[in-house]
Amino acid sequence: MQQHTVLFVDDEVNILKALQRLLRSEPIEVLTASSPAEALELLERCEPQVIVSDQRMPEMSGADFLSSVRDRHADIVRMMLTGYTDMTIAVEAINKGEIFRLITKPWNDEELKATLRQAFDHYELKAEIKRLNQVTREQNFKLQDMNKNLELKVRERTKQLDGKNQELRTAYIQTIRALAEAIDAKDAYTRGHSERVAVYASRLGGRMGLRKELIERIYFAGLLHDVGKIGIPDAIITKPDRLDAEEYREIQKHPEIGAKILEPVEFLHSIVPCVRHHHEWYDGCSRGYPDRLAGDQIPLPSRVIVVADTVEAMTSDRPYRKALSIDVVVAELHKFSGTQFDPIVVDAFLQLLEDEGEAFISKDQKFDIYAFIEG
Ligand SMILES: [Fe+2]
Ligand SMILES: [Fe+2]
Repeated sequence: MQQHTVLFVDDEVNILKALQRLLRSEPIEVLTASSPAEALELLERCEPQVIVSDQRMPEMSGADFLSSVRDRHADIVRMMLTGYTDMTIAVEAINKGEIFRLITKPWNDEELKATLRQAFDHYELKAEIKRLNQVTREQNFKLQDMNKNLELKVRERTKQLDGKNQELRTAYIQTIRALAEAIDAKDAYTRGHSERVAVYASRLGGRMGLRKELIERIYFAGLLHDVGKIGIPDAIITKPDRLDAEEYREIQKHPEIGAKILEPVEFLHSIVPCVRHHHEWYDGCSRGYPDRLAGDQIPLPSRVIVVADTVEAMTSDRPYRKALSIDVVVAELHKFSGTQFDPIVVDAFLQLLEDEGEAFISKDQKFDIYAFIEG
């Protein structure tokens, strides 16, 4: 513990001597000054924790002296020693917060010692509070620093993860595309069909103002909508003539087979129902399959895909007919709007046709789903 030091300031030397005598046996170092000027000079060399000053002194009042001590050495605990006659000034000084306690002359020895002890305690308490504040401030700075570092690290990591995600996404699209191409390659006439259905359907979704996630889902469901054809015998798929009833029943199984193929693949979960229902009719009639769902029961991506699917099929050559003109396609969409097709999707198609002409259903357009939904 720091040595306790007190400085007494009084112009009466007898009083200073009496105070020194009183504290001789105490573990307190006693400094004295017989004028405020001498005291201020002393304070340049040593710093006591406590100062006790007389009020009435010739050159400068105790209140003024203690006030200048407060300005230069704010930590020192200041007390005043005063006769009853100076009470008004002393009380004013206390109220201004300039002094810790008032000791009246003549003093009681034990009371004076107790007051001094309280003053030293007060000093130590203030010092401790100051120290703790300092520690808190330093820790706050350290924490802020750590936070900044952490933030940087998180940002760095996020960037790396974004890069990895991008790679994964690219690999994922390539896999799905390869799968779709494998299906279309079963029949020379349907080469590129799935990719084009995916593109047309995405464009329709965009025209309908759907959110990104949904357009992305439409794109992948479009790519994979006919994946179930893998399970249908090639003889039926590549048959150049119209299918008989038995063969037609067989080919109608492809949405269910497709859903079964995709079901175990976790990242394709959300597109399973879209694939399963891409041949439902909007009015829920018996021509739709496999579940004869109607209206909103049919997933929105499926309702978009069925329009894109029909448009793509009609505008492509088939073994039994040439590609049909856009007028025939438009007439067909009008004819089945509200029965086979969701009228909202048909409207979106007609609007796109009006805005862009036939360009958006051109066969060899370049399409990047992420550039499309981010742009
Ligand atoms: Fe299909
Ligand atoms: Fe199809």
